[in-house]
Amino acid sequence: MMHFTDFDSAAFLRDNWQQQPLLIRNPWARWHNPLSPDELAGLACEEGIEARLIRQAGSKWAMEEGHFSEKRFSKLGKQPWTLLVQAVDHHVPEVAALIEPFRFIPNWRIDDVMVSYASDGGGVGPHFDQYDVFLVQGLGRRRWQIGPLCDAQTPLLPHDDLRLLADFEPTSEWLLEPGDILYVPPRFAHNGVAVGDDCMTYSIGFRAPSRRELLSNWCDAALDRLDDDDRFADPGLARQANPGEIMPQALEELRAMIAARLDDAEAFARWFGAFTTTPKYPETDWQLEAPVARADLVEAVAAGRTLRRNPASRYAFIRSGDGALVLFVDGEPIHCDPAAAALAERLCASACFVLDSTLIAPASSIALLEILFNQGNLAFDAD
Ligand code: SIN
Ligand code: CO
Repeated sequence: MMHFTDFDSAAFLRDNWQQQPLLIRNPWARWHNPLSPDELAGLACEEGIEARLIRQAGSKWAMEEGHFSEKRFSKLGKQPWTLLVQAVDHHVPEVAALIEPFRFIPNWRIDDVMVSYASDGGGVGPHFDQYDVFLVQGLGRRRWQIGPLCDAQTPLLPHDDLRLLADFEPTSEWLLEPGDILYVPPRFAHNGVAVGDDCMTYSIGFRAPSRRELLSNWCDAALDRLDDDDRFADPGLARQANPGEIMPQALEELRAMIAARLDDAEAFARWFGAFTTTPKYPETDWQLEAPVARADLVEAVAAGRTLRRNPASRYAFIRSGDGALVLFVDGEPIHCDPAAAALAERLCASACFVLDSTLIAPASSIALLEILFNQGNLAFDAD
């Protein structure tokens, strides 16, 4: 298991998270690069995996979207290029393991691990992102430069596919070696350039919902629960001096009709749990072909087999009082009584674990384990 020997997460959350970039020199107990360049190229050739290729010739940048044919990589020539593959953690458990040391940040804030490979001088150009990212140098070396905070007004180069900064003035710069990590908060300009060939960088990416996406999705969910006969009513209507006036009392009642529905804390919590755990690639079906027998599950847990959450599955829970909770897995709510809640909390606490048999003794707990197994959200580790 990859872990940090020397990193103060409390100090990081206090001083850096969402505030200031931070260079973390190799904090790993023993860094080893979890994926080879060939394996990454292989993933970029698979259908259903998001991949991009960025090439640069002088001041010209070109972007192609995957998936790619194997031949594409042998025809790239001498100009600097970089290959980017999204959500590699979903397919490679060793890459998913890179997220574990960062679990001091809640599950629902985590997006995915993007992996890049660059030839000498390659990079994606100076840009800014809307999200926090830990840039873990995996193989080879990369020079990172950080610039000022950007916003919607920051000038960009005219380009159909890439959002490159028109002017980039770095304020600091570092050369990262394997195992080094650069943390970049949202909207800080940054630019990473490979120094030498075989440069691999792992981006542990986070997400934060925009107010626009929250409002739009929550309103859609609220609309689904409304009937057409739930309507403004004014029995006992008082005569008014001017029929043209929309009276303050009517306005107040109209606004209250909306606010009451949108500001329903319980309904919001239920909706948000489902919304935020919706998988990144919902079309992928992980369901087991043949359901597992409950007795086999019990036996394997008793034998101390290691369980692993599907790295593509999103897990989170919300307490619902009296020791019960709602577990959300890939957008689906599962109501857990206090006995099953203990198991649900265990499942949410880490991605890979050995279960104590007493946790699955209650009927509601073993039922929960069975559901998650059969949906493909959980499996025994290949060991
Ligand atoms: C890269 O890995 O080359 C790009 C990562 C980033 O800048 O967000
Ligand atoms: Co970036």
